[in-house]
Amino acid sequence: DGWLRYAPLPCSGHCHSSLPSSIAVLNATETSPVYVAGTELQNGLKGVYGKHVKVSHTKCKSSSLVVGTLDQYREHCGPVHGVPELEEDGFWLNTKGKNVQIIGQNEKGALYGTFEYLSMLAQGNFTKVSYASNPAANIRWVNQWDNMDGSIERGFGGPSIFFEKNRTVEDLTRVREYARLLASVRINAVVINNVNANPIILTPENLDGVAQIADVFRPYGIQVGLSLNFASPQTFGGLSTFDPLDASVIEWWSKITAQIYERVPDMAGYLVKADSEGQPGPQTYNRTLADAANLFAKEVKPYGGIVMYRAFVYNQLDENVWTDDRAKAAVDFFKKLDGEFDDNVVIQIKYGPIDFQVREPASPLFANLPKTSMAIELQVTQEYLGQQSHLVYVAPLWKEIFDTDLRVDHKPSLVRDIMTGKRFNRKLGGSAAVVNVGTNTTWLGSHLSMSNLYAYGRLAWNPADDAEEVLKDWIRLTFGLDRKVVDTITRMSMESWPAYEQYSGNLGIQTLTDILYTHYGPNPASQDNNGWGQWTRADHTSIGMDRTVSNGTGYSGQYPEEVAAMYENIETTPDNLLLWFHHVNYTHRLKSGKTVIQHFYDAHYTGAETAQTFLTQWESLHGKIDTERFNHVRRFLDYQGGHSIVWRDAINDFYYNLSGIPDEAKRVGHH
Ligand code: GCU
Repeated sequence: DGWLRYAPLPCSGHCHSSLPSSIAVLNATETSPVYVAGTELQNGLKGVYGKHVKVSHTKCKSSSLVVGTLDQYREHCGPVHGVPELEEDGFWLNTKGKNVQIIGQNEKGALYGTFEYLSMLAQGNFTKVSYASNPAANIRWVNQWDNMDGSIERGFGGPSIFFEKNRTVEDLTRVREYARLLASVRINAVVINNVNANPIILTPENLDGVAQIADVFRPYGIQVGLSLNFASPQTFGGLSTFDPLDASVIEWWSKITAQIYERVPDMAGYLVKADSEGQPGPQTYNRTLADAANLFAKEVKPYGGIVMYRAFVYNQLDENVWTDDRAKAAVDFFKKLDGEFDDNVVIQIKYGPIDFQVREPASPLFANLPKTSMAIELQVTQEYLGQQSHLVYVAPLWKEIFDTDLRVDHKPSLVRDIMTGKRFNRKLGGSAAVVNVGTNTTWLGSHLSMSNLYAYGRLAWNPADDAEEVLKDWIRLTFGLDRKVVDTITRMSMESWPAYEQYSGNLGIQTLTDILYTHYGPNPASQDNNGWGQWTRADHTSIGMDRTVSNGTGYSGQYPEEVAAMYENIETTPDNLLLWFHHVNYTHRLKSGKTVIQHFYDAHYTGAETAQTFLTQWESLHGKIDTERFNHVRRFLDYQGGHSIVWRDAINDFYYNLSGIPDEAKRVGHH
């Protein structure tokens, strides 16, 4: 159930009178989101307050709660008063009048409003409210990297809930439960198969299975999307080519698309990873990325679908070339194509230019595509962030990116306004997060990781929301209202990303993990001397990527003038991104007055110390959390405390051995 536990709350007498006793659900079709809303209200009130409420479909006037769309309300209940303009998927929640009104612009909106109301009640909040809530963006997607054999790429919560043995699964119970969780945080589409796509998703049997999955998601207002393998016409369809401009290829994709929409008339669209990390793409035929994106865009357009085309395109590089820089790849590939993409193409851009690192500057591509729709790509699955064995509440990282002002044309240009489409007046925009839940009962592999999924949904709806407030809602819904529980988990979670940054890689050096395969555990040596381009350029005297225009890769010049000038100059580059932009001696002094190397030593100690407090903080909640979850979390935090020491020592020793510079506090090399 995740945060939708509807666990009983003590009721101090007065609350029953504030709770609705009968509900009018304005759509009697069982597969409609409004109907689902009614069931959810019934279960929620029963669970939280032990109160049974009757549901009817017509008795609008005599019910104490009404849920439906604006149109349904007008039809069954008469005119509505005081509701401001609602945008697509928006809702109106009014608990001030005689009866509670939950009115959606559409059915999805009504369901979202219902979850909002239930979230208040489950948090013991009986405040009288009346307000409208509208989404900041229409793309609020999740991506699952599920393989057809049931494994999940970078998934840490067990095997797939969608696939096994190259087929879709028969029992869709978990799919329904996932749908419920996602709908409660207003996610409106899910791509169910890995971006490294296996074309066998397109067999008729599997498409039948996809249709069944889509049927389960639909009542929750969630559309299903599919990842495509660009070479499918050849490797799967038996054609001699997969050239996106070849007539037989176009026809092949038309047929496939028709077969999909015949089964899933509301399919959300395609997600495409091409010309990236060995995946086939248009470059094989010297075609542009726009040629590829537009091929699919034209196919799904008549059905109302969109194409999410990933910006994660880069080539292997040579570290001996000082100006080679993977961080530049996205702008190099996409900027020149601005204006060439069809209007139902959305470029899906990872938040930073490399790959979900513990700290990256916002991708400069956001500032370079004013005539193209964009969405930001985030990760809920903690690929580089401890893979669910470490508590890392990631929302504060996302917020730093959202709130970055890229100053396009010297005007305020927050990333959140660019990605939602507001800044450049794009109709489409928003976000996609790689989630990777599995069959594990905790979904992601550990209970505390679920704050990231919850926060993702909340911030996809409103990226201006506060990461800590969102977190507190999640804690109350998940672990109850006890003050100490809420304060403690809030403190641990808010400390967790900064701590992880301190013990895994700071000053913008990236997550110093094993980048060659596992992306887990410390391995600073693996960063350099390979073609992947996640380099640190560390040698005996100096460290960091010189990304300046004057002396380095030129990456800083991909930002608009004001931001470029800030990063170009070492004096104005924030310390936390120093080594991202500049190559300096270990003895270089930071703004804090410390040298780079001493900062490394100290930060790794501070970060690991903080991580070691998590276990004691958690243990102070003994007796306030059920034994099963208490012990499950306890085990992870115990491990994290120890592993943070492994990180600390591995990295400090590595740079001590490399630089030969002693630790002023005489810890490194002496343990
Ligand atoms: C990372 C990740 C891969 C994934 C890729 C992507 O590199 O490690 O597993 O396929 O990102 O986002 O496409």
